[in-house]
Amino acid sequence: MTRKCMLLLTLLGLLAYLPAPAQRQQQLFNADWKFHRGDAPGAEQPQADDRTWRAVQLPHDWSIEGPFSEEWASATGYLPGGVGWYRKAFALPAGYRGKQVSIYFDGVYKNSEAWLNGHFLGKRPSGFASFQYELTPYLSAAGPNVLAVKVDHSEVADSRWYTGSGIYRNVYLLATAPVHVQQWGVGFTTPQVSASAATGQVAVALTNASATAAAVTVTSTLLDAKGQAVATAQKVLTVKPKANGTASLRLPIKNPALWSADQPNLYRLRVRLAVQGQAVDEVTEEVGVRTIRFDANQGFFLNGQPTKLRGVCIHDDAGALGVAVPPEVWERRLKALKAVGCNSLRMSHNPHADYLYRLCDRLGFLVMDEAFDEWERGKNKWVAGWNVGTPSQNGSHEYFKEWGDRDLRDMVLRNRNRPSIIMWSIGNEIDYPNDPYTHEVLNTGRNPQIYGKGYLPNHPPASEMGPLAKRLVAVVKQADASRPVTAALAGVVMSNFTDYPTALDLVGYNYQEFRYPEDHKQYPQRIIYGSENGMAPAAWAAVDSNAYVSAQYLWTGIDYLGEAGKWPQRANGAGLLDLAGFPKPEYYFRQSLWTSAPLLYLAAAEAPAVGAPAGRRPRGTATWNWPVASQVRVVAYTTNEATELLLNGQSLGKKAGRLPAWDVPYAAGELRARGYRNNQLVSETVLKTAGPPAALQIKPDRNSLSAKAQGLAQIEVQVVDQAGKPVPDDATEITVTLTGPARLLGIESGDLASHETYAAPRHRAHRGRLLVYVQATGAGPIGVALGAPGLAGQAVALRAE
Ligand code: GAL
Repeated sequence: MTRKCMLLLTLLGLLAYLPAPAQRQQQLFNADWKFHRGDAPGAEQPQADDRTWRAVQLPHDWSIEGPFSEEWASATGYLPGGVGWYRKAFALPAGYRGKQVSIYFDGVYKNSEAWLNGHFLGKRPSGFASFQYELTPYLSAAGPNVLAVKVDHSEVADSRWYTGSGIYRNVYLLATAPVHVQQWGVGFTTPQVSASAATGQVAVALTNASATAAAVTVTSTLLDAKGQAVATAQKVLTVKPKANGTASLRLPIKNPALWSADQPNLYRLRVRLAVQGQAVDEVTEEVGVRTIRFDANQGFFLNGQPTKLRGVCIHDDAGALGVAVPPEVWERRLKALKAVGCNSLRMSHNPHADYLYRLCDRLGFLVMDEAFDEWERGKNKWVAGWNVGTPSQNGSHEYFKEWGDRDLRDMVLRNRNRPSIIMWSIGNEIDYPNDPYTHEVLNTGRNPQIYGKGYLPNHPPASEMGPLAKRLVAVVKQADASRPVTAALAGVVMSNFTDYPTALDLVGYNYQEFRYPEDHKQYPQRIIYGSENGMAPAAWAAVDSNAYVSAQYLWTGIDYLGEAGKWPQRANGAGLLDLAGFPKPEYYFRQSLWTSAPLLYLAAAEAPAVGAPAGRRPRGTATWNWPVASQVRVVAYTTNEATELLLNGQSLGKKAGRLPAWDVPYAAGELRARGYRNNQLVSETVLKTAGPPAALQIKPDRNSLSAKAQGLAQIEVQVVDQAGKPVPDDATEITVTLTGPARLLGIESGDLASHETYAAPRHRAHRGRLLVYVQATGAGPIGVALGAPGLAGQAVALRAE
């Protein structure tokens, strides 16, 4: 070996012993956990034996592994809960030595308790809160460390919808220097915004964990989309030993690129700390510059522009994946929602996964973040079916007194820099009449949602809600005064007699469009909007035709697990998209209301028999396979001026309007529609009668996956006939075989009553379709083969790199 080489090696060796760079380190901490379903007393001790435990990868939801059973609760999707334990042994990464080390959980359902090397770190009852524990005092720099987390979801009927169980969101390991920015310690607001200039206000909360005072230089820089610094500011402050400090900086921004739903322009805000010229910490946040304003008479303004909020409510789960959902799934779903004309989301009824807000910032959704579905008193959780039998009263109210304020404050701090968020909701339907609050007016007043008959004097009085609401609003304002506080009210008839609505900046009405004109007159200062609404065109007309009503939030954007009618139903079908993210006819109907580009969609249903009772008009399906000699009602969902319908080449007439309908005597073949604007043909669509199933067609959303980031492919599967036409009602069982570095995360058909296990590599199609989730586990070629008895199979080649 040459002397030069030896010198280099010695230098490298020395470098290994030098203190690690002072900057913050952060890594996803999802790999190589061990899991035990059931209790495991003593498993918090590092030496406990976990050799027989299952290896799992986070995020992980054990409830979705099933099995579905009537033994459990309709509210939570007839899936089990119970107790589970997680353990992870790890060596402290080199760059983390000698630093303040913490662990961050984005969400654990629920009642989690955590230990490091046998030392208790803390507990968090809420299954939706994000939280962090400091590990430093208990860490071993030399030896292995063992993290243990106990999760207790034994109260399985504890929510009105499916929540899953386990460490179902990301976990991060974090290391900082003794002088560092606190968790959620950067706040960014824009107190002044115009087209030519804006002011960014940056608040930095920092900690000096060292034993000596520190003179800290805080530098804050705003970077545009190209990475160019557009504004910068600096402050120096002295922070005492073992103490906290705050710095406030102003960033003048020239010609700001405003954030909006149509043009979601983002900046990166970089905050650097330095002590004696040495960089010690750096935090970067995605931020936006925009203004929001709600007005009691004129509705909502984004950057000064009147804007109607075409919103949908969503829950966390994604069918087969439970609540452990990779970001690609939400990206696909959000893009479908964008295309339907949706520009706003309501995070019903709890904070969601961190990346979902990032996607909203990037894709341009205006967001209502919501904290609770109940406060200190519980609501009914249906067990034997919706409104059937005796409900359970378990739920988050059990720990609200101790944790409510903290959970709410943390929701706000966690997300306060997101330009997408335009309002904070402190609760959904806390005032659901008689569930539990009551009032004498329920004997006479009109309300669409009511449990029980009239006033129930043995229930808690509605007057309890006002003082609580005031306290919660104050908690929010203390953490973020830049956005309005709202709540979604179910029993406005009763809440109008309390201080609840007056405690709020914006009063959300659930399913009470009929009340808008009356209440607008009676409470002229009140800002009224629809926080939850049905799919009827009239509910949208109430927004569209009233300047003072800014929003509607449809229940729901996507079908969700739980809140099931009654076994065998185990999921709720209220969505525009089904559990697999496939658009339902309702989706196109909505598109005809919410968008204006040429749209033409045909929905067909057997026409109701003459004299049949008028029920909810069926939306129909986009199929042309009907019983011989039947009468079929065909409706076009369109944004065009006129539509012509043709059956096997014969015109059935041209009709005007957005919902033209024809009653058609069924004949197999081809049903075609032509859409016209200004007498010009602008769209065309066709339904074809399909023959028996013959083959599978598969469509992956991508062929190339990230190996490092465990990329996900979502593969759409369609059963087709000999000629390649989609077979509408096929339920063939399809088997998936994988080769290469990949795992099958789940298969979803969208069938709300299927009890097939999601863990199996096979699933029955529903309406001829399936969605297959394949996740990369390493680099290399991945083969996905699909087969079904009697059908020509298909294979697709993916690549993880
Ligand atoms: C609403 C409630 C939602 C959901 C929905 C079902 O009253 O806010 O969470 O339960 O009803 O239709």
